[in-house]
Amino acid sequence: MENIKAGILGTGFYVPDKILTNADIEKMVDTSDEWITTRTGIKERHIIDDKQTTSDLAVFASQNALKNAKVDVSEVDCIIFATITPDMPFPSTACILQDKIGAKTVCAFDVNAACCGFIYALTMAKSFVENDTFKKVLVVAADALSRITDWTDRTTCVLFGDGAGAVVVGRAIDNKRVILGSYLGADGSAWDLLNMPAGGAQSPATHKTIDERLHFLKMNGNSVFKLAVRAMTNAAETVLAKCNLKNKDVDLVIPHQANLRIINALAQRLNAPLEKVWINVTKYGNVSGASVPIAMAEADASGKLEDGQIVLLDAFGAGLTWASAIIRW
Ligand code: ACO
Repeated sequence: MENIKAGILGTGFYVPDKILTNADIEKMVDTSDEWITTRTGIKERHIIDDKQTTSDLAVFASQNALKNAKVDVSEVDCIIFATITPDMPFPSTACILQDKIGAKTVCAFDVNAACCGFIYALTMAKSFVENDTFKKVLVVAADALSRITDWTDRTTCVLFGDGAGAVVVGRAIDNKRVILGSYLGADGSAWDLLNMPAGGAQSPATHKTIDERLHFLKMNGNSVFKLAVRAMTNAAETVLAKCNLKNKDVDLVIPHQANLRIINALAQRLNAPLEKVWINVTKYGNVSGASVPIAMAEADASGKLEDGQIVLLDAFGAGLTWASAIIRW
């Protein structure tokens, strides 16, 4: 069989216009810019407007990625959509996106792996391309976390934002931007540390679930923090070993953007100087699965990435899930 290598053909992202600053949140709950900045690094986040939904964010990010890849939407033969805030429980938001961007009647489905959703979806896209199931896969991660955020809970509402990132995955051109490998894992025994309790089959919507505010994200931040640092370090080291690379070979780390303290701790453990770590949590907050592809699209657009450089993607999220991948630019 032909030795096909999957690569990133183009990147794109989109964040909604409306910005919510720490000063804005100070007016909503008992918090301060000082607390949010020192504990999380976040200064502001972008928030969807009332008329938009998750698929709308994905439309812009997808169109930007297709344009960047110089790929017409008619060439896309699979859409994988990573989200934990789908437009509705079903059909998949991938199908809604397919309709909105005018893609043909191609395979379209959602992936739910929270902040790791993009790397999970990217890994599937790599397999699809390399075994010739599909030629051009649109991988999108979009979330409107503001829609499941409890704006009366100061322990969570300061953390999240809305946005979307996308890439087109296809046969690598000139052996560039090749997805060398990935590592995915999960520990379902810790599902209760981070979840949205109601609205599913276990607890369908009732007046009681609404009164008890169970349709909002709940998190044990402290426990998640410790597990995040450990799991992201392990995920990075595992994928590097899988690809026969060492920490020092990495030119750019693109971590999930949950908290600047988590990113700093990860960088320290990987011996990565901070100038080799892409950080945008300050301006977007945690955008779940969209964090990594937004950062990747920003890094790509910055012109700082050179051919042959090693890029490490690394994420951690609800599930609990973890995921890492290596791209040779
Ligand atoms: N403003 C002021 N005080 C606050 C706020 C706030 N917004 N939030 C919490 N506090 C208080 C607490 O009540 C607590 O007070 P107490 O000591 O009197 O009880 C104190 O600050 C410390 O609270 P901690 O929870 O211990 O603070 P911590 O330093 O752990 O920071 C945070 C909390 C930012 C949530 C951190 O734990 C974190 O980032 N966790 C990981 C989040 C994450 O990675 N999520 C994964 C992905 S998300 C996804 O998959 C969708």
